[in-house]
Amino acid sequence: MWTGRSVTIALIVGLLAVNLLVGANGDDTTTLVKKVKGKKVCIKGWECNRWSVYCCNQTISDLFQVYQFENLFSKRNTPVAHAVGFWDYQSFIIASAIYQPLGFGTTGGKLMQMKEVAAFLAHVGSKTSCGYGVATGGPLAWGLCYNKEMSPSQAYCDDSYKFEFPCAPGAMYYGRGAIPVYWNYNYGAVGKALNVDLLNHPEYLEQNATLAFMAAMWRWVTPIKKSQPSAHEIFVGEWKPTKNDTLAKRVPGFGATMNILYGEMTCGQGDIDPMNTIVSHYLYYLDLMGVGREEAGPHEVLSCAEQRAFNPATATPATSSS
Ligand SMILES: *[C@@H]1O[C@H](CO)[C@@H](O)[C@H](O)[C@H]1NC(C)=O
Ligand SMILES: *[C@@H]1O[C@H](CO)[C@@H](O)[C@H](O)[C@H]1NC(C)=O
Ligand SMILES: *[C@@H]1O[C@H](CO)[C@@H](O)[C@H](O)[C@H]1NC(C)=O
Repeated sequence: MWTGRSVTIALIVGLLAVNLLVGANGDDTTTLVKKVKGKKVCIKGWECNRWSVYCCNQTISDLFQVYQFENLFSKRNTPVAHAVGFWDYQSFIIASAIYQPLGFGTTGGKLMQMKEVAAFLAHVGSKTSCGYGVATGGPLAWGLCYNKEMSPSQAYCDDSYKFEFPCAPGAMYYGRGAIPVYWNYNYGAVGKALNVDLLNHPEYLEQNATLAFMAAMWRWVTPIKKSQPSAHEIFVGEWKPTKNDTLAKRVPGFGATMNILYGEMTCGQGDIDPMNTIVSHYLYYLDLMGVGREEAGPHEVLSCAEQRAFNPATATPATSSS
């Protein structure tokens, strides 16, 4: 039982047990270590700066450096790209500092950590790509080419959310960001989580790369519905499928991250292009990061071709509507 007094004592004992270590890889990151209830927790520089078991592991920038980011997104600043000068490594790392203490890119050890960075960035890269069949460098080299939808066909204002997330006069909630955010209710939800007024200022997501990455990472680590796993939990193996999941062929791994994020637009329709594009980005990034695509695992965890959607839009499978 945690009474006020035992909390105080635990804090004092914890503070006495703090050790100062200098970063093992010769950088000047300082790691603070203490034990809470027998569990080792750490703080690691500004990048992982809340007491957390995850911060005892290497940070993302230990494993994934600026040259790797440049390799993955090598075409993003060519003149024909649509967000020249917008996206950079620093924004990615700064954004990740909110989520690393929660386990984003810091769970499971080096291999899992690199795979999660590759998986997250595969979603980002494929959703922001302007690569096409004959693009120089190949279609997978064009991630982070966009930071917004270029010719929105509508304002994406859903009036049924007018009490919780009312649309601002004149505001357009078209796709913006790293994993693009659409609709007033999604801008409202992510803005609330990040404490930024995105309902009144959806344009912030196309003006601030750090914020754009934060919004995408929030989506990655946050369940869409309370009873469901986040893409992060699905990917790192923290999600245990229920009987229903198993019947729906939903298994932990990359495939199910597409399922939770995009549902039947991407999954349960066989080997369709929208799914294959995301998978191809993942494999390509694993190779470029030096992990190797063979670490991606077998087809049934990589794909969601046969999975029923976690959140079907309709009761019947949507195979005829598009
Ligand atoms: C940290 O990394 C180790 C392997 O280096 C791994 O076993 C452990 O699970 C990781 N910690 C967390 C909290 O994921
Ligand atoms: C970008 O957004 C982040 C997060 O809200 C904020 O801390 C930062 O100051 C913003 N940068 C600029 C240039 O407005
Ligand atoms: C399992 O699926 C059935 C039918 O789709 C549904 O009625 C039930 O609520 C689900 N159970 C759980 C635990 O999600």
